[in-house]
Amino acid sequence: MIVPVILSGGSGTRLWPVSRKSYPKQFCALLGQDTPFQETVQRTRLLGLEAEPVVVGNREHRFIMAEQLRQVGVEKVDIILEPVARNSAAAMAAAAFWQMQRDEEALLWFMPADAVIEDHEALGLALEQACEAARHDYIVTFGIRPTRAETGYGYIRQGDLLDGQENVYHIARFLEKPEASRAETMAADGQHLWNSGMFVARARVFLEELKRYEPAIYEAVAGAVQNASGDLGFVQLDEASFSRSPSISVDYAVAERTDRAAVVPSSFCWMDVGSWDAVWELTPKDGNGNAVRGNVFLDHARNCYVNSDGVVATVTGVDDLIIIVTRDAVMVSHRERAQDIKHMVSRLKDEG
Ligand code: GDD
Ligand code: MG
Repeated sequence: MIVPVILSGGSGTRLWPVSRKSYPKQFCALLGQDTPFQETVQRTRLLGLEAEPVVVGNREHRFIMAEQLRQVGVEKVDIILEPVARNSAAAMAAAAFWQMQRDEEALLWFMPADAVIEDHEALGLALEQACEAARHDYIVTFGIRPTRAETGYGYIRQGDLLDGQENVYHIARFLEKPEASRAETMAADGQHLWNSGMFVARARVFLEELKRYEPAIYEAVAGAVQNASGDLGFVQLDEASFSRSPSISVDYAVAERTDRAAVVPSSFCWMDVGSWDAVWELTPKDGNGNAVRGNVFLDHARNCYVNSDGVVATVTGVDDLIIIVTRDAVMVSHRERAQDIKHMVSRLKDEG
């Protein structure tokens, strides 16, 4: 059995000011009608998986999650609630311990709630290949051919083909979020793939590796699931235990260290909708490369992304800008600086 696990507890700061702590990007419809969270749930449906997905997210967003699931007709889902955010390793561990109480050999397909994926046929094939290797106790990632020197992703050096497997390779090295110069080399050398952020593994195998490399996360989350309580159909992780978990992403906690890691070089079309330049890229444009959403008038501008909810925004005589207008905040950035918004957001937090 393959159980999809949707990780939707991230805060999405690079998409501020639309994405907010109380309403982060995975719940915002930035591209089409549905939100990335809803698209992710529907993707698991399209692949015809038997098991209902498990959702892991923050307690603060429980009603948003339940409502958005209801909107796409998915109701019988376990929603595991984190009392505090402890990053993706702890979130995945929570789903894995939860699954261990049911079927410890089941395969978990962990996926972020912030990716756009096209070509479900190719995704289905890659998933089949990944599951085959995960049945042999590998932790399998999906590798995407790099198209630029992105520093916000993990890089995977593809090793040898796994014995007896089709299109699944050892990971010779996993490097999370490299420096710009290394990213440039790796993106160009033809030997590296981007990590798509999805993983397939048995619950038992994932937890064994987590215990080996990050025992403190393992212990804290084990306690949080053991002492979890049910409330209004949600699974509430125990706060005292869960808060003790270190906050580390799965990429640093497990993927960079484990020797059970494998990769399926994948051909589906994939993009992390993590920043405004990605949204610009994915939105249909006018003849001058401008993409707009909402109440926007634009003239003599090129390659801009302008998004305004309600307030009229007029933009003229500028190139390569991102302009986001919400009721209580305005954000202006050069497109190439779109990744830096997270620094502004942490400054805002620090300065209250
Ligand atoms: N439940 C829960 N709790 N989910 C979380 C938490 C948490 O505390 N923190 C992050 N997540 C979820 C996010 O919502 C997202 O869906 C997923 O975990 C990945 O987190 P991101 O914060 O978006 O990670 P990233 O984009 O910087 O990096 C990851 O994804 C890249 C591809 O998009 C890494 O896996 C990279 O290696 C990878 O290239
Ligand atoms: Mg991401």
